[in-house]
Amino acid sequence: MLRFLRFLTAGESHGPGLTIVVEGMPAAVPVSEDQIAMDLRRRQGGYGRGGRMLIEQDYAYITSGVTQGRTTGSPIAMTIENKDYANWKDKSPPPITVPRPGHVDLAGALKYQHDDMRLVLERSSARETTARVAAAGLAKSLLGELDVKIGGHVVALGGVEAPVPDLPWGELFGRAEESEVRCYDPETTQRMIARIDEAKAGRDTLGGVVEVVAWGLAPGVGSFVHWDRKLDGRLAGAVMSINAIKGVEIGHGFASAARSGTQVQDAIRWGEGRPIRATNRAGGTEGGVTNGEPIVVRAAMKPISTTLTPQPSVDMRTGEETVMEYQRSDICAVPAAAVVVEAMVALVLADGYLEKFGGDNIRETRSNMEQYLSSIGWSALV
Ligand SMILES: Cc1cc2nc3c(=O)[nH]c(=O)nc-3n(C[C@H](O)[C@H](O)[C@H](O)COP(=O)(O)O)c2cc1C
Repeated sequence: MLRFLRFLTAGESHGPGLTIVVEGMPAAVPVSEDQIAMDLRRRQGGYGRGGRMLIEQDYAYITSGVTQGRTTGSPIAMTIENKDYANWKDKSPPPITVPRPGHVDLAGALKYQHDDMRLVLERSSARETTARVAAAGLAKSLLGELDVKIGGHVVALGGVEAPVPDLPWGELFGRAEESEVRCYDPETTQRMIARIDEAKAGRDTLGGVVEVVAWGLAPGVGSFVHWDRKLDGRLAGAVMSINAIKGVEIGHGFASAARSGTQVQDAIRWGEGRPIRATNRAGGTEGGVTNGEPIVVRAAMKPISTTLTPQPSVDMRTGEETVMEYQRSDICAVPAAAVVVEAMVALVLADGYLEKFGGDNIRETRSNMEQYLSSIGWSALV
């Protein structure tokens, strides 16, 4: 799906660690392991997480493609240690033969013809999203050099909705960062926390909705000329690939289906020497191309599948009906999912920027961008 900034991840949830290779980064982009670690910490946090996150202190070690804090243009390899591996390496846990509803245990075991579903859950676990956040740390550094900023927050959790914010993006995300549930509004934060406590007491789990915004964007990233070049489709596919994400919308998305045309479009006016929009209901793309407005992507996360309340399943060894075995789990991971959605959006945008502006050194990428912006009369923005 990504063609200009590709990445691969490998690793099991309780194996020695995760490996990431990112290919296509131009040279001379400043990157730092400590900067990446900040995002890894953000992914580990959030009220309602399970015990695993107390064990891990994720840190991505860069083992190639970076010299003296700058990319060289070569593929970048990173490794993240699984601290929990020490607790597992000398154990031989019994096979898992009862698939957990809501996980890929059953379909995965049928597909790969495994008798032990542990072989499925080890790789399908959301532990893999740690690797994506590390890869996105590089994408964010690249976007930062091109004036693009990105942030994510929780807009709803377990049915508790945050009020519609009226704040500049930077301030909104600054406030969300201080919340235990990544919600900008302190009063809603308290209600979301209470909702998680309630779910926990009821031996249940919760989902929610996260919103990611990227701003400072050039118009013209993505293309309308072919379906697989459309940026909205690329964003939706990447975000939908995240564990437990079951819905993606851009701009007003689903709500616009119930409105009339005049309530949905963003009128084009002239101001500041260029076309401007007073509204951004489209969420920053029209026809699969950025229009210069912020990209606004929302994602719906289903409740965590693993519940303390036993759920009906079948023992695949015997065909007997039984209940699933409880595996240590989160009650709610919506605040963490916001960081993962942020990561996938950053990777897709970085890919789109490299498609549009190219460049083997970030100076070349930047100068191509500046030249383009000036030739379309968009310099007022930057
Ligand atoms: C950050 C994050 C943490 C998650 N933690 C858990 C968890 O602790 N327990 C669980 O059952 N599912 C968890 N999930 C969701 C499962 O990984 C996911 O539902 C499962 O792999 C099946 O995939 P699907 O829901 O996309 O179909 C988490 C998802 C994310 C994004």
